[in-house]
Amino acid sequence: MSEGNRAPVGVDPFRPNPARVYNYMLGGKDNYDADRLVGDRMLQVAPDTKDTAWHSRRFLMEAVRIAAEAGIRQFVDIGAGIPFSPNVHEIAQSIEPSAIVASIDFDPVVFAHSNALLSSAPGVTPILADIREPDKLLELAQSEAGIDFSQPVAFLIVGVLHFVMDDEKPFEAVARLRDVMAPGSLLAIQHASTSTHPFFKNTSSNDTVGSPAQVDFRPPDVVAHFFEGLEMLPPGLAPANEWLEGDLRATKLVVLCGIGRKN
Ligand SMILES: C[S@@+](CC[C@H](N)C(=O)[O-])C[C@H]1O[C@@H](n2cnc3c(N)ncnc32)[C@H](O)[C@@H]1O
Repeated sequence: MSEGNRAPVGVDPFRPNPARVYNYMLGGKDNYDADRLVGDRMLQVAPDTKDTAWHSRRFLMEAVRIAAEAGIRQFVDIGAGIPFSPNVHEIAQSIEPSAIVASIDFDPVVFAHSNALLSSAPGVTPILADIREPDKLLELAQSEAGIDFSQPVAFLIVGVLHFVMDDEKPFEAVARLRDVMAPGSLLAIQHASTSTHPFFKNTSSNDTVGSPAQVDFRPPDVVAHFFEGLEMLPPGLAPANEWLEGDLRATKLVVLCGIGRKN
């Protein structure tokens, strides 16, 4: 059977897709030749981009563990991407079996994969929504996934906000999410940094300008605004390799990671 025939309904295997390129970087199988071509171009510029993807994924898992161990049982994963094990619900439910997850992405490709791969997982609700429309997203998290915003929640926004340009109001969107967070809630963010190697930034900009995969690399003091009014958990906002424990090498693509708590 050809790859095209195995594609879930709604997926075009002949056009590169950011979620599938990321899946390729992680070593996943939910990608096609068109995605691998784009991924290989990134790897030519910075061969350690696979390490960055893994650091980011480890940060996501660590954020879920910290939240679940703090007793949080509601997870709103925004820009969740194509399911990749261990998924958010697997980590959360291994610590807190009653944990529920709103698995949100704006990409119908991801939504199709999530419906196909997660439909049998209890407590997980795939939702098609856009962080640039936070009120609609919050309403769907509540009505479809049963998220109760009067109780603590963990917002996971990992590898997403750099795809939202300034004129699309990312800071206003995240402020709206912070507004509804009950005390004890956590906000985990990973965001591409201006300290990324200039060659990578230039290539990325040239390759993606005007497309949904365009990245706005932001400096740490600007990324810090996403956490306004929250208490940062140690080690604060830091490049992924420094945020994670262990002696991990810096990569050419630098992504900042941080977790803030609403007190
Ligand atoms: C690099 S992947 C990250 C996947 C996952 N968060 C992880 O860390 O493994 C970025 C995801 O964000 C999604 N995304 C980008 N812009 C978005 C938006 N405006 N609203 C919701 N999802 C978005 C993409 O479709 C993609 O699946």
